[in-house]
Formats: sequence, C-alpha cells, structure tokens
Amino acid sequence: MLEHMSSRISSPVLVGRAEHLAELDAALGRARAGGPSAMLIGGEAGIGKSRLVSEFAATAGRAGARVLAGACLDMGTDGLLFAPYAGVLRELVRDLGADGVAALLPSHATREFARLLPEFGEADTEADPAVARARLFEQMLTLLERLAEASPVVLIIEDAHWADRSTRDLTAFLIGSQPVLDGVLVVVTYRSDELHRTHPLRPLLAELGRLSWVERMELPRLGRLHADELVARITGREPGPRLADEVYLRAEGNPLFVEELLCCDGGLSTELPESLRDLLLAAVQRLPEQTQELLRAASAGGQRTGHALLAAVTGLAGDDLTAGLRPAVAANVLRADQDGYMFRHALIREAVYDDLLPGERTRLHTRFAEVLGSDAGLAAPGRGPIEQAHHWYYAHDVAGALVSAWQAAAAAGHALAHAEQLTLLARVLELWDKVPDAAERIGASHLLVLEQAAAAAQTADEPERGIAFASAALKEIDPAAEPVRAALLLETRATLSSHTGRMDPHTDLQAALELVPPGVGDAARARVLLSESKHLAEPHGLQGRAAAEEALSLAQQVGDTGTQVSALCELACIESHTASDAVALEILAQARSLARRTGALRPLLHVFVNESHVLEGIGEHERAAQVARSGIASARDYGLARTTGTFLAINVAEPLVSLGRWDEAIEVIEHALALSPPQLNRLALRILAGEIALRRGDLDGARALAAAARAALARAPYIGHREGQYYLPLIHLETGLSLAQGSLADARDVMAAAIDGFDLVRDPRYAWPVLAIGARACAAGVAVTRDRAVTRDRATTRDRTASRDRAAAEQADDLLGQLRMLAGKMDCSGPVQRASQLTFAAETGAGPADTAGAGPAVARWDAAAAAWERAVDPYQLAVAMLRAAEAAMAAGDRDGAAGRLRRAAELADQLGAQPLGEEIGTLARSARLAVRAGRQGRGPAEGRPAPGLTAREFEVLRLVAAGRSNPEIAAELYISTKTASVHVSNILAKLGVSGRGEAAAAAHRMRLFEPAPAGEAGAG
Ligand SMILES: Nc1ncnc2c1ncn2[C@@H]1O[C@H](COP(=O)(O)OP(=O)(O)O)[C@@H](O)[C@H]1O
Ligand SMILES: [Mg+2]
Repeated sequence: MLEHMSSRISSPVLVGRAEHLAELDAALGRARAGGPSAMLIGGEAGIGKSRLVSEFAATAGRAGARVLAGACLDMGTDGLLFAPYAGVLRELVRDLGADGVAALLPSHATREFARLLPEFGEADTEADPAVARARLFEQMLTLLERLAEASPVVLIIEDAHWADRSTRDLTAFLIGSQPVLDGVLVVVTYRSDELHRTHPLRPLLAELGRLSWVERMELPRLGRLHADELVARITGREPGPRLADEVYLRAEGNPLFVEELLCCDGGLSTELPESLRDLLLAAVQRLPEQTQELLRAASAGGQRTGHALLAAVTGLAGDDLTAGLRPAVAANVLRADQDGYMFRHALIREAVYDDLLPGERTRLHTRFAEVLGSDAGLAAPGRGPIEQAHHWYYAHDVAGALVSAWQAAAAAGHALAHAEQLTLLARVLELWDKVPDAAERIGASHLLVLEQAAAAAQTADEPERGIAFASAALKEIDPAAEPVRAALLLETRATLSSHTGRMDPHTDLQAALELVPPGVGDAARARVLLSESKHLAEPHGLQGRAAAEEALSLAQQVGDTGTQVSALCELACIESHTASDAVALEILAQARSLARRTGALRPLLHVFVNESHVLEGIGEHERAAQVARSGIASARDYGLARTTGTFLAINVAEPLVSLGRWDEAIEVIEHALALSPPQLNRLALRILAGEIALRRGDLDGARALAAAARAALARAPYIGHREGQYYLPLIHLETGLSLAQGSLADARDVMAAAIDGFDLVRDPRYAWPVLAIGARACAAGVAVTRDRAVTRDRATTRDRTASRDRAAAEQADDLLGQLRMLAGKMDCSGPVQRASQLTFAAETGAGPADTAGAGPAVARWDAAAAAWERAVDPYQLAVAMLRAAEAAMAAGDRDGAAGRLRRAAELADQLGAQPLGEEIGTLARSARLAVRAGRQGRGPAEGRPAPGLTAREFEVLRLVAAGRSNPEIAAELYISTKTASVHVSNILAKLGVSGRGEAAAAAHRMRLFEPAPAGEAGAG
C-alpha cells in the first residue's frame, strides 16, 4: 500500500522510540513469565506504528519468540473476513506446512480454518454459522496455546481501524481469553486519527482498555531532537538549519511525512508528493461537498482560523458554519478549539490549499483581506493588519500589499513579532519597484525601510539577510552628511557579520569609530565601542576592557541606560573570565538594578544570561537555573523567545545536567529546539543532549548529536566564538564517546587536535573538563597496553602488537605531558573548576602542590569525589567514587572499595547512568564485592513519601497543588503544554486520584512539600 507507492528512502535506524520499545519488551516479559499481556498501539498514519512493531518483532524473534503478524486491509466493510488471521495462518502454513499446523490441533480439526485459507480444504458450509464461528475462535485459541508451549508468541494485528466485524470479535475474544492463554503477547495497532466518533473500534478499545493486562500506548510525533536526527539518517548527512526548520514546520515530526517531503537528493520538495497528497486528502474527500468547500476557505486562512473570521469570509451564520464543519471535526480533519478551527496536521492544510484553483485562491485571499480590513477585530488582538497584509500579498494586489505590509510591519514591531516584522519589511522592499509612488504612499524613504529591515533582521537573528539590507542602506547613504546614521549602520553590519563569521567586523567598527570621534554623536560612539569590546579578537583582554569602560562612561554621560547595562554585562564577563566571579556577580547585580530602575528590558536579558552563566560556573546550579528561567519569561515578553529565550534555555539545561536531572534537561532542550533556535543555540542544546545520551548509554543517539554539532560548527566558523563555549563541550563529548566505544586512539586524536586548535589556558571554565577527560584517555591507554602485555600470545603478532603498543604508549605519554603543562599554567577558580582540577590530578597522579594530589591514589580520588560532592554534581561524584574504589582495591582495601562502590552504584542507579552502572558492576563482580543490586525506578524523588513520582513529576505536582493550569506549568518549567499535561495525567494515575483538586489534597495529606527529614536525599 502506502509503502510501495513511492521511492522514499527510510532511515536505516529506528529513531527516538527507545521508551516505546522498552514498554513492548516489558509486555513481552510479562507474557514470557506466563501472565496475560496485550498492547494496543494508536497513532496517526505514518507515525511509525508498523516500524516500531516490526523492529520489536525482529528483536523478539531473535530472542526466540515466534512472531505472527497479519494486517487488516482498507476494503470497506464487506472485504475479506478475518484478513489478518488469514495472513497469520498463511505464514504458519509456509513455515510448518498445512499438516504441521493441523498436527497442533486436537484430532487435526482444521476444518474451520478452511474458511480463511484454501490450504485447509473445503469449508463446511452446512454447519450453523454461529456454531462454526465459535469453533473457529476456539481453534485459533488452541493453536496459539500449542505454539506458545514451544516458545513465546507475539501475535500482531495491524491497522485494526480497518478491521471487519469478525476480526474485531476474534481479537476481542483472544485478548479476553488471555488469562488462560500462557506465553502470548497480543499487539494491536490502529490509526487513532481515523477513529471518528462513531467508529466501531472505539467501544472495543474502551472495553479492552479496562482489562488489567491490556496496555495502551499512543505514539506521539517526534520532538525536534529526533525529527532532526531522522532527517540526517534519511539523507545520510546533517541537514542545514533551514532544511531542518522547514521539514519540522511542515512534517511536524511525523516520520512518514518527513520521508515524503525529502527528495532523493536530500533536499526538500516544494510540491507535495502525489502519494502523500492522496493520503492526506483521503479523509477530506469523504466529507460532504459543502464541508469541503468550507475547508478550502479555511485553508486560505492558515493553519488555524477563528470562527468569526471564517463565518465572515464564507458569509455563513455562526451556527451554519458550525454545522457545516462538524463532519470535518468528527473525521479528525479539523480540530475545534474555543473559538476557531485548526487543521489536524499542517500538511492537510497544505494539500487542501494546493488543490485550490489559482482564481479561487486569489478570490479567497481578497475576501479575507477585505473582511479583515472592515473589521480588524476578527483576527487575534494586534494581528489584524499583519494578516491583512498577508492576504493582499497572496491576492496579488501590489499596491494594497505594499501599503498594508508597511503598516503591518509597524504593528508587528509593536507586538514584538520580530521575524514577521522582517518578512513584512522585506515584502515592502520587494514590491517597491512595482509601485511607482511607493515612498509617497507609505510616507517613508527606501533608505529608512532598509535601515528598519536591517535592525529587524538583527533582532530576529537573520544575520545574512541583515547584512544584505545594511550593505544596501550603506550604499544609499552619504557618510559625510550623516556620520552618526552611517556609523550606526556600520555597527549593525559589524554585529551581524560577527554572527556569520564570513566578514571581519573590525573593518566596519573602525570605520564607524572614525565617523564618530569623541564629541560627535557620543551615544552612537558608546554603542560602537561596546560592539568593539565584544568582537575583539581577544574579547576578554585589556583592549576589550578599555573599550567597555569607555562605552560605559560615554553611555552614562548621554544617559543611555540600555548601553550602560550592556557595558556592565560586558565588564562582568571580563571579570568572570580573568579575575573574579564574585566581582562579576556584583557588577551584574548593579546592572540588574539599573536595568530594572530604568525599564531597560532588553539589556536586562543580557544580565540574566550572564548571571546564570556565572552562577553555573561556580556550581550554584539551582540558582543558575532559576535566574535563567526568569530570563526566559522576560525574553518571551519581549518577543525574543526564539533567540535570547533559547540561549537562556541552554543556561537552564546546563545546571540540570550537572544536577543529574536529565529528564528535565531533555524536556527543556526539546522545548527550546521546537522553537527553531538560531544555529549556535541549537548546537549547544544538542551537545548537552548528547552528553546526557552518552551518560545514559545511548551511544547511537550521542553519536548522532555529536556529528550534527560537528557538522554545524564546520559550516559556521564563528570567529567571535572561538573562545570555546561551543567547541570545548563538543570536544568533551567526542572524547567521551570515543572512550565509551573503547577507541582510545580516537579519543587522543580529538584531544591532540583540541590542544593544537585552541588556546585552552585562556578558557579554564570549559577547558578543565576537557583536560580531565583527556587525562582519562591517556590513563586508560596505559592500562590497556599493560593488559595486553599480559595476555598476548603468538610471537609474530606479539612483535607487531608490541611496536604498535609502544607507539600508542608514547603518544599517550606525549599527550599527557602536554596536558600537564597546560594544567600547570591554567587558572582555577570556584568549586567546579576545582573539582575538575582534582580529577585531573587524580587521573595523572600529580596534583597541585597545595592538595592531597601528591598522596596515594585513593586519597587523590577521595579528594576529587569530595570536591564533586561540594559542587553538587552526582554523576561526576559517582565516577570519582568508582575510581576511588578501584584505587582502594588495588591497595588491598576491600572494605574501603566496597563502601565507595556501593555509593557509586547507588548514584549511578538513581541517575540512570547505565554504562557507569555497568562499569561499577564489573568491578564489583571481578573483585567479588557485595554491592546492592540496582533499584527499580530512578530519580532523586526516591525516599520521598510520594508513590513513585519522579523529580519532575514532584515539581509539577507542587505547581498543581498551587492551583496552576497546564499552560502555566508549561511556561514556568519551560516545557511544552503537551508535556505538562502528560506529567499531570501520570501524577494523577500514580496518586490514584481523578482530578487536580484531589491531587492537591493528596499531596497535602502526604505532606509532600514539607522539608525532607534531615539526612534524607532531597528532591532538590
Ligand atoms: N521512529 C522512526 N525512525 C525511523 N523511521 C521511522 C520511524 N517511524 C517511522 N519511520 C518510517 O516512517 C514511515 C512510516 O512509518 P510506518 O511505521 O509505516 O507508519 P504507520 O504504520 O504508523 O502508518 C516508514 O517508512 C518508517 O520506516
Ligand atoms: Mg502501518
């Protein structure tokens, strides 16, 4: 069917369904153990039900289960009866022969199977149909029973939304009989989007869902992390950000749609492929003609159209409109919310819209524009002019489009919709030459529009386009006549080009400074100087400080508080980098209060960014996350959720990673990525996700993320950011990955390249972790060489191996020497850097003179562990504990080893740090140390009286108890509303309550939010 209709390329690996696979495995485990077990899997077409089930089946098959699969076909109600079961039997006959199948049944009674498959002979047409049916059901049950005696059976019934009545009955019968049917897992898949209100599968699902052994899962669309990975897997290379954004915007994380939209050359098809269009339009075409007419109108309105607006456009009274659209809602084509309708999927709208005739399209857009023109209140507040401009444009009314775009650009700027403002200004410029008296019509010059467009591009983080606008504007301006204006444009272009790395910002900044010497436009000079301090080759050096200080004093003189705040932030950065975090925090506090006092809201965002960054650097993880969260809220208010907001999301996720709250970190990362953040933010978010994946043992995922980040960095050599906050964490991740894969040589190559390519000494914050892991790569190398010396046998290989080992050992020694030298030169401030430094010392056996570093290995690792404990980093703590245990073991202290190992095991288990847990287990086994087996469930909330709540659920519950709604919770925790609602349902289920009020009461009753008793691990 679908699968055979196009030449799509699929991803060779299953992306982002690890949890669902695990659930299926658990269900199979229950069946293996002899219990009843069934799984009902819903999801929209193309979401990956079949793929998931087939990957699961393949694994189950390899593990010895017998997999029987059959699919229902889309043939209307009177199609093949029992189609999936006929398929199952056919497969069995192919495998065992008809006689083999018959041999499984008492007295070879396969007669009823003849109705399904001719191989079983003539069907008995004489028998009473009801009796025959009952016999067939019994025989199927017996067959499964016999098969399951030999090995566990997985029975898969696919696409049950197409099931005929008989198939539904038989499936219900088998699942209902499972308590007497050992060793069988029944898996049923269905398209949940096709289950309209009266669909016959609905009552059956509800009924089955009430059985205790039946579980339901709904496959969600892929989140941004996995959607991007899918694109990379399909095309075999990392997608550029544009492509990734476009695919995500249109496919919305549906794997089939992603595949369909990607052409064979890895690009994006602008047209909808035929097969996809058919799939998307199938449900639409089944609707009454009047409903389809209304859908066509709605498709011109966009993904969502308000009820009143659609009523005005179609000329229908409200009730008639509701009645006309009801079939579309019932068929799951549209979703209705309080006062509007949205298409269930963006591509359905696209398909309907594409189907419009050109004249029809123009007519509809004209109608929308007119209606909005007469009553802007029909659009959401502030959106009237913007939408009107959109419709005039697509109605091909050039003059109307130009004027309305200009007006709408102002409205968009006012509403802080920066990306839209940019689009609209670009449209004004695009139409300029087609409208003879453009300047008169809008009352503004071409130059002014260009300047505004350049500024909007800067805010919307579209540097390439901004540079083009700024350059065009600079051509139209006479610097001698208007030096300040020209200087500001040069500054804008410099800032923009620092974001692309393709142009050197200094030429522009120098030219700008010459245009505004002291005394000529000091406000402009202050801004140029501030830029200069940021973009100097050595941003934290003396020259940078001088520029920032002059900017600060000029801004003070002219009373430009915004620039003042930003200059203070810059100075704080310099302080934190070169001297003292405490001083940096003081300066930032000063900047914050100035910004608050004077309402300098955008500069205030810089304060949030810098403050959370510094706090995280000194191990104040909780505070860092908290400051970054408040920053995000402000960024949102300022229309900068996508840009500064997602930067701040990095600063929320980073501390969560340190604190070991990885689920939360991933939620934050997903949410930020879904906003299509600028390249660098995306990069940093992915590196953090990669680090989590690595620690959890998802090497494939970590590898994909590291590769994606590496490709993105290669494409964008951001000159201004070579200081390492992006590169060094990536190097850390890549080294960790190589170590996890046991490729020490790769790890050391990455490290050698890092030493060559970066001035590590200048960037202690990000360099210390790199040094520590680099030391590990060297130390581990030595250990391997030693092992091999003991185990190798044959003489010839011995020589070759020996010389290779010698070379490797020399390389490791050499590298270690360089690392030591760097460590000796590098500053170390604050508890986090200190902990990394002590780890480095323990790893290399040579610590700084003032520490226990020179002592025995156990003491050195204990010192590192204590430092990580102080820095509140449970993962690093667990690693240090494990190394300390190894050292204790080597020193013959078994008790000491066991104690440390136990602690490490506990931490690794809580964190879900699987590879670390395995390493701990290996040591425990080989040394025969008793370490308590891993506990079920994880999350720091263990030990709380709450029944199995994760740390995140615990936080959500706190907000529920405080009376917050799902959108409020989502905003507060920086997760999607959908995620929030999933948490809430899980919490209600775990607490065994049916509503939020009850949940709050339960939390209260269990005293969940009172401080934990002393000595108990807190939920943080
Ligand atoms: N998680 C995934 N990772 C990679 N490819 C996927 C994933 N889910 C689905 N696909 C691909 O998307 C396409 C549609 O998936 P399919 O399982 O047929 O969807 P469904 O059965 O839900 O309609 C297939 O080509 C499948 O290989
Ligand atoms: Mg399918």
